[in-house]
Amino acid sequence: MSYAQPFHDRDGVIWYDGKMVPWREAKLHVLTHSLHYAGAVFEGLKSYNGKIFKLREHTERFFRSAELLDYSIPYTMDQIDEACKATITENKLTNAYLRPVAWRGTEMMAIGGKGTTIHVAIASWESSSYYGEEIRTRGLKMHLSRWARPAPNTIPCAAKASGLYMICTMSKQEAEAQGFEDALMLDYRGLIAEATGANFFMFLNKGTELHTPSPECFLNGITRLTVMELAKQAGYKVVERHIKPEELADAEEVFLTGTAYEIMPVGQIGDYKYPVGANTQKLMDLYSKAVGRDVKAAAA
Ligand SMILES: Cc1ncc(COP(=O)(O)O)c(C=O)c1O
Repeated sequence: MSYAQPFHDRDGVIWYDGKMVPWREAKLHVLTHSLHYAGAVFEGLKSYNGKIFKLREHTERFFRSAELLDYSIPYTMDQIDEACKATITENKLTNAYLRPVAWRGTEMMAIGGKGTTIHVAIASWESSSYYGEEIRTRGLKMHLSRWARPAPNTIPCAAKASGLYMICTMSKQEAEAQGFEDALMLDYRGLIAEATGANFFMFLNKGTELHTPSPECFLNGITRLTVMELAKQAGYKVVERHIKPEELADAEEVFLTGTAYEIMPVGQIGDYKYPVGANTQKLMDLYSKAVGRDVKAAAA
């Protein structure tokens, strides 16, 4: 995905350490601790028709991610919720993507980072489809990454933290260089984990069962939890378990879930091919309703 306008050079405002600042002035110094030592935590949210989907859940994860990296967000959850709402109001957005981020500042340029000020910013911009309509219709082409999601005792893997994304960026770039659109990562045990910015699901047993890996070393996505609930309500048997890569041969339909991806059908993983089937389509419609988007408008 490429953007017409670089992110530093746009109109609008960004909430920065408690105040709205003009977009182009929302800067930080090169000797920012978290730029060097991977200490930023962030969120990705979407608003639909002016309402932010699962706002409090994202704010809670934002605070949890910071705690997992041994610092605290210096605001209350209510203040962050209000700041998120204010950025979309001030930027006159209804269907927006929001990006809260927190980081350790410049007081110390050494690993410990003790005494660094914690900064917080929230940006928002017009949301666009993470992948275009053509890919959404035929399903994503995925590469099997050579990078593994790390063990829980090597990194705080339940945090949405910048350091965890290095492998995702490398996997995605490698996939794109080889003509794919995204990458599926296995974990440190060789089990199926997740995509570079989304969780993994597959239908089995003539479309009656929806299987997804247990989130033991990757993000237990808010969309993932929403879709599991929707699938249960729709009568599917939902199974969380260890899934081996060989099982990709038996999958009937495959899709990914994430705030940006929403429900993204997968058409191919390596040599395996999948249809964009009726069960995935049904969950896509249910998700569109759940987030408050008009299904007919989305299809138009
Ligand atoms: C690596 C990774 N896994 C999973 C997800 C899905 O999380 P959510 O559904 O909360 O957006 C995301 C997106 O935030 C992600 O970046």
